[in-house]
Amino acid sequence: MIKIAPSILSADFAHLSREIREVSAADWLHVDVMDGAFVPNLTIGIPVVQSIRACTDMFLDVHLMIEKPVRYIEAFARAGADLLSVHLEADHPTRIAEALKVMGDCGVKKAVALRPITSPNAILPYLEELDMVLVMTVEPGFGGQAFMEHQLETIRQVRALMERYNPGCHLEVDGGIAPKTAPLVIEAGADVLVAGSSVYGASDRTAAIQALRGA
Ligand code: DX5
Ligand code: ZN
Repeated sequence: MIKIAPSILSADFAHLSREIREVSAADWLHVDVMDGAFVPNLTIGIPVVQSIRACTDMFLDVHLMIEKPVRYIEAFARAGADLLSVHLEADHPTRIAEALKVMGDCGVKKAVALRPITSPNAILPYLEELDMVLVMTVEPGFGGQAFMEHQLETIRQVRALMERYNPGCHLEVDGGIAPKTAPLVIEAGADVLVAGSSVYGASDRTAAIQALRGA
């Protein structure tokens, strides 16, 4: 079963609760947290996640594009995240392992994220304990960028590693996902599709979500 996770990065932040209601046909809600250091952009933080939690029952998939994420895992878990993704490039391996441990202690689902440059093998030390791996299909930082076709090979390699070490693990893709690219990433092994501009750029959000499912 394919899950669709609209990214609120492309929503109208002044009407966030309405914008969230408009994507209730989706499965998860993707929340992009950026710190202006790991990526050259600043977005939302803990209080906004808390407010989102109070206005929806949707599964909150929180993508942390921040340096040294271990510092904030507990705070985002308390704010109501259901799953947290930390970037493998954002800290030393021991601190990434520590971040995953804190997620476990807090009862949130655990994911690691890979920039396009990062080798699929970098997930190996953590793979068996993960609920999800996030493969970026654009350079993290901004919505509305063009899909990187060469990341299809990364998706295939990550899926092959999962089949071997953790068959129940989700594989999420993020960046440039639209009705044209969705079938390609699904064929390569993705099962959770993040979509910002292709959902929030459409006037009929339900139809945009169904289009990603291929309906
Ligand atoms: C980019 C973010 C994405 C972004 C995707 O760094 O991680 O979640 O919202 O936007 P689109 O779907 O427009 O590429
Ligand atoms: Zn994201």
